[in-house]
Amino acid sequence: MTKQRLDDLAVFGGTPAFAAHERLTVGVPNIGDRDRLFQRLTMALDKRWLSNNGALVQDFEERVADTSAVRHCVAMCNATVALQVGIKALGMTGEVIVPSFTFSATAHAVGWLGLTPVFCDVDPVTHLLDPAHAESLITPRTSGIIGVHVWGQPCSDELTEVARRNGLKLLFDGAHSFGCLEEGRSFAGRGDATVFSFHATKVVNAFEGGALVTDDAALARRVRAIQNFGLVAEDTVNWVGTNAKMSEASAAMGLTSLDAMPEIFAHNRDIYRAYRAGLAHVPGIRMLDYDPSANNCQYVVIEVDEDAAGFGPDLLRTVLRAEGVTCRRYFSPACHAMTPYNTGASLPQTDAVTRRVLQLPTGMVVTRADVARVCGLIQLAAALGNDITERYEATTATALI
Ligand SMILES: Cc1ncc(COP(=O)(O)O)c(C=O)c1O
Repeated sequence: MTKQRLDDLAVFGGTPAFAAHERLTVGVPNIGDRDRLFQRLTMALDKRWLSNNGALVQDFEERVADTSAVRHCVAMCNATVALQVGIKALGMTGEVIVPSFTFSATAHAVGWLGLTPVFCDVDPVTHLLDPAHAESLITPRTSGIIGVHVWGQPCSDELTEVARRNGLKLLFDGAHSFGCLEEGRSFAGRGDATVFSFHATKVVNAFEGGALVTDDAALARRVRAIQNFGLVAEDTVNWVGTNAKMSEASAAMGLTSLDAMPEIFAHNRDIYRAYRAGLAHVPGIRMLDYDPSANNCQYVVIEVDEDAAGFGPDLLRTVLRAEGVTCRRYFSPACHAMTPYNTGASLPQTDAVTRRVLQLPTGMVVTRADVARVCGLIQLAAALGNDITERYEATTATALI
């Protein structure tokens, strides 16, 4: 049934557009070839080599380094701990400049080590760290910058310049940018190092996983030691280390996911283009515009301009969820507004972006037909505009009486 009126919307009592078995959610894992996964797991079990730099982890590291066009890769248990290991190995101290518009893990990695994250504003169009603002935040205590390649887009060269000019370490949080390109080439070799996430919801996953890649051999050696209890030889500990190792089971999944990468990227790009076409002329809705052929397209990000649309992203999320489409509001709230970091920093662009963002489902489980239906729902919401807000407010007010 094509929905046309307010009453047709599931949030107001209509039948959900997606039945229980068809529901869509942001971040459903891509699985890959199960037989290959089980073969690899069997291999690890047969060898009785389950962790501690096994053959699967070594293979995974080599393939991640190749894909990223860098010399060294150290696979780890997740990106959050890989960021901590990177910060430690780079010798950052005191204050570290980070965007506030990022997943909390970026700030936590700094705070967890007893350093102070100093929150920087972002560009309102790309959502990437603003290099000029970053430079204005530098103090004598600043030791480094963590740039986030948010939504798989590269941080600007100007940020690298700011770090170089001021003698600061530069670590990139590339949790979103595995396999992404700029002018046809990987940008993972920028700065001192880049950290990837291979969490279950990422475009390539290792159940849980992360990696640090770098062209700096000495840094790679330090990282390898620190993530393995500080060991540099069998009985020699030279660093205060931690246990951040990737297991063979995770590497088995990571390799299987890498095998499927061309297919996953092609599918995500097709889905991204379908959303672009479906949302091109919807009033109040702007889809984040990047070149899909250079991006892994693991995030479909829209901005909802409440004044133009007549409703905000929270209400659109509620409307879509009732229809069987679970969206996310990354990254709202931004880090500087979270309890542990509530510094009162003034970040007007970050605040404006967090008021608008919403992510739509993508990945291997989402079809073009699904996208057409989701876009149809958003188009209907836009046509109804402020009526949705008024009806929703009246409904919730009645529910409170
Ligand atoms: C920007 C960013 N940094 C870091 C992380 C943390 O990654 P992990 O779950 O592998 O620790 C995420 C996770 O989504 C992220 O989005």
